Amino acid sequence: MPDPRLAELSRWLPDLRLLTAPGDLEHYGRDWTRRWTPAPLAIALPANVDEVQTIVRWANERQVAIVPSGGRTGLSGGAVAAHGELVLSLERMSRVLDFDAVDRTLTVQAGIALQTVHEAAHCHGLIYPVDFAARGSCSIGGNIATNAGGIRVIRYGNTREWIAGMKVIAGNGELIELNRGLIKNSSGYDFRQLLIGSEGTLGIVVEATLKLTDPPPISQVMLLALPNMDALMQVFALFRTRLALQAFEFFTDQALQHVLAHGAQRAIDGDHPYYVVTEFDAVDERQQQMALAAFEHALEQGWVSDGVIAQSEAQAATLWRLREGITESLAPRRPYKNDVSVRISAVPAFLHEMQALLAREYPQIEVVWFGHIGDGNLHINVLRPEDLVEEAFIAQCEHVTRLLAATLQRHGGSISAEHGIGLVKRAYLESTRSVAEIALMQGVRKVFDPNGILNPGKLFATG
Ligand code: FAD
Ligand code: MLT
Ligand code: ZN
Repeated sequence: MPDPRLAELSRWLPDLRLLTAPGDLEHYGRDWTRRWTPAPLAIALPANVDEVQTIVRWANERQVAIVPSGGRTGLSGGAVAAHGELVLSLERMSRVLDFDAVDRTLTVQAGIALQTVHEAAHCHGLIYPVDFAARGSCSIGGNIATNAGGIRVIRYGNTREWIAGMKVIAGNGELIELNRGLIKNSSGYDFRQLLIGSEGTLGIVVEATLKLTDPPPISQVMLLALPNMDALMQVFALFRTRLALQAFEFFTDQALQHVLAHGAQRAIDGDHPYYVVTEFDAVDERQQQMALAAFEHALEQGWVSDGVIAQSEAQAATLWRLREGITESLAPRRPYKNDVSVRISAVPAFLHEMQALLAREYPQIEVVWFGHIGDGNLHINVLRPEDLVEEAFIAQCEHVTRLLAATLQRHGGSISAEHGIGLVKRAYLESTRSVAEIALMQGVRKVFDPNGILNPGKLFATG
């Protein structure tokens, strides 16, 4: 017997595609966290802005919670539907709407994949520079909702820097058009920036106008092996001063072992505890010589034990795979993820404290580190031992996250650098935001979404 609320929604929108088969509920009800059992009411696949708006109005009338859904590559549970919510997937709204050569903008529907945006920009000789390994599956709407970062933040910043405008259906059902692609607009509050990073709790992004830019200069990719943690920041300081960095990413030997077991190719022989993949401008011989000189200086100082410079695009891709393949290689183990950040200046002290904390709290547990060290953003992935049941493992991880959150608080850091709070980190929001700030955030949510229908239970534990 069909749910009467869905029958009514179908009367409001006779052409709306609605899925209720168990396989679909399972597929659309989860993201990459895989911790919660999906249990949505149904999946709505609107084809246009009008349908999205009508769904939100219906949900307000019937008090049905909506989970906005992009590519579901999220790592914080933001797109999980485990309590009878309606999943509103943007996947059918995935077209490029407009390219403007003068403004250098691309206007897209929110369900478009990041990689499709890259390809569209490329067709016009430009780039959209936000980039990371989930590019083929994640959507622009999801990127905006999480303020996604990735591997090029050190040069280009987060998603926040690249959104010139957007259309949003607010939680109250109003269609709002934010900033309209303007470069300058000092006419009051910038709701566009408020929506970026709001994790689907204020509105549903239906369209976005993205800024594009020139492709970066010709670059080189280098893999470095490092003997210890202190060397990491020394090499970073050296390379940042001497080279024009496009990326500076690090991972540990444990991370490397997982990627190699997953089919990646070893690029440096021997055992080394830490690695860096870095990419920098190498337009001419002078820049290439500078990179070589920086590498040799690091070698002489003992900060680097080995290294390799890619000699071709294929080799560059092989080196990048060592870093970009980590998430996928760990996924079968369903790691407990921490995604933290501190100011770059606080990284060395924070790293030492955290290393001691993790060694003390997880003596028998494998902890895999990697991340965007040049942005002060570390990913700490904890792997469940086979002899520990899931519940006990999560309880232990939550305990350690509380200690980690306290450490972060002392260093002025954040419990979520780029993945969002979602369900996974909502208990720790207060370690990063003051009570007064959280109260204001909840007040803002009430204005946009007075009935609390958008992603309830995400970001905040209540409200
Ligand atoms: P979803 O997972 O579908 O949703 C994420 C959140 O956004 C949810 O709260 C959802 O409700 C909301 N949402 C989705 N669409 C909309 C919309 N149209 N309007 C309003 N709210 C919406 N993240 C990084 O920042 N940097 C990385 O380097 C990175 N690397 C990754 C690598 C891999 C292999 C994987 C699997 C993930 C990675 N991620 C990374 C995490 C993830 O890809 C990003 O958070 C991404 O932005 C999520 O996009 P999505 O479309 O999959 O969103
Ligand atoms: C990454 O940097 O690879 C992503 O943020 C994904 C992850 O943390 O697993
Ligand atoms: Zn990351």
